[in-house]
Amino acid sequence: MSFEINARTELLGLLGHPVAHSVSPALQNSLAEACGLNQRYLAFDIADEEALEDAVWGGHAMGVRGFNVTVPYKKAVMEYLEEIDPIAKKIGAVNTLKWEENGWHGYNTDMPGLLRALAYDGVEIQGKNVVLIGAGGAANAALCAALEGGASKILILNRTVSRAEELAEHFNKEYPFIPIRCIGLSEDYVSYMKESGKEWIALQTTSVGMHPDVNGLPVAGEAFYGLLSVGYDIIFNPEETAFMKQVKSHGGRAFNGLRMLLFQGIRSYEIWNEVSITDTVARDILVKMEAALRR
Ligand code: ATR
Repeated sequence: MSFEINARTELLGLLGHPVAHSVSPALQNSLAEACGLNQRYLAFDIADEEALEDAVWGGHAMGVRGFNVTVPYKKAVMEYLEEIDPIAKKIGAVNTLKWEENGWHGYNTDMPGLLRALAYDGVEIQGKNVVLIGAGGAANAALCAALEGGASKILILNRTVSRAEELAEHFNKEYPFIPIRCIGLSEDYVSYMKESGKEWIALQTTSVGMHPDVNGLPVAGEAFYGLLSVGYDIIFNPEETAFMKQVKSHGGRAFNGLRMLLFQGIRSYEIWNEVSITDTVARDILVKMEAALRR
């Protein structure tokens, strides 16, 4: 059931820059419609950090129930929060704000969103080997998901090894019992992966292969793809990336980033409204999002 906008309509929104191509408004408004809530979600293009502060406090003054926060403000927004949940603290980034009695509370739903996407597809991380491709902003939540999910061994492949090492060092303090190995993309990572004797789950977090670079492959060697049982790409444009094609042609299952986007949004929605969204509702919205992106 959908509500016409009226005097009781609650407002939620996205703070970021740029936001014009964000899928979050379509996703969040579909969730509100599916749940029969009188809410609307808008994208706000925030020019700089000064405007971010104004938006956060102005939003509260106007009774905004919650915000999503995206690039480039996921760290900067932490300054205005009364409380930050432990996972967001570990990752060092907040993408969801909810106003509570004493102020804004911050959460990171990228990590639980990825874990739920894996569960939705029947992919079990517990006790498995996980290879993370990339060590930029998006890799933080993916690495945290692999650690929280109980991977037995983690490999970070990155063009710049020192960046992977910094990331590993940071998380090693939080999860000292799960080994994290870092190898450069120009080094021999295949031997290390083969030695481990198991299949690998890959989480692709770089922007390589994103439209218009549709032939871009984040990892070049064919042998690598032969070792993967599953590959998740954070990219969803194109719908099937060159990375996904390689995983599939070597017999693995591959998924694009729409599921991670969907489930991080669902987790934010669940936090704001204190509800649980079923897989059935999630599936309906995923189908809608896929159709919208093909148009
Ligand atoms: P962020 O803003 O998320 O930090 P970024 O700096 O663009 O994004 O980097 C994202 C990831 O994509 C990094 O792991 C980056 O590798 P480096 O650390 O070596 O820079 C990786 N990346 C970006 N372009 C790449 C390319 N052409 N080949 C390989 N890796 C690439």
